[in-house]
Amino acid sequence: MKNDVEKILFTKEEISEKVKYLANQIKCAYEGKNPLILCILKGSLIFTADLVRELDFPCTIDFMQVSSYGSGSETTGKLKIKKDMDSDVNGRDVIIVEDILDSGVTLSNLLPEIKRRGAKSVAVCVFLNKPERRIAEINADYIGYDIENEFVIGYGLDYDEKYRNLPYVGVLKRSVYEK
Ligand code: PRP
Repeated sequence: MKNDVEKILFTKEEISEKVKYLANQIKCAYEGKNPLILCILKGSLIFTADLVRELDFPCTIDFMQVSSYGSGSETTGKLKIKKDMDSDVNGRDVIIVEDILDSGVTLSNLLPEIKRRGAKSVAVCVFLNKPERRIAEINADYIGYDIENEFVIGYGLDYDEKYRNLPYVGVLKRSVYEK
């Protein structure tokens, strides 16, 4: 796997510090509110696991797997729920946790769905943000890093379902996805 990495963007140690920083911000805003941490599979699995272990107050954790289909500039109303959460979000403070915010289409479709189900509040926490790629009007409340438009892998992020288990975030060599 290592041979396919062009460069490392964020090391394991840097990631660990950033997760602590984000957890601290969330702690200040949510302590005592028993928020529902909503992990969006699969990419967010590792970030969520690290983040919740830095939250030293009661919270609950649930999972959804979604995709947004369609293409072009259409950004709304095309949420496909592959796996739904078990929780009732009615009256809950929900924090959606994502590995990456890219075009914004996924979140711009998911957020209204969570609100429609009666959540008291919905916030978004993303580890990586690619502002350059945005086509939907969506912003995260908590952001680990803003990054350039590069093909990133590791720390949950995949190419063709590979590399999610790399402990760092790296840029994939072009030769891997252009062959
Ligand atoms: C990734 C990521 C977000 C979404 C962001 O998921 O985890 O859910 O894409 O992209 P967007 O802002 O352009 O909508 P992906 O569909 O690749 O699934 P995965 O998490 O299972 O890899």
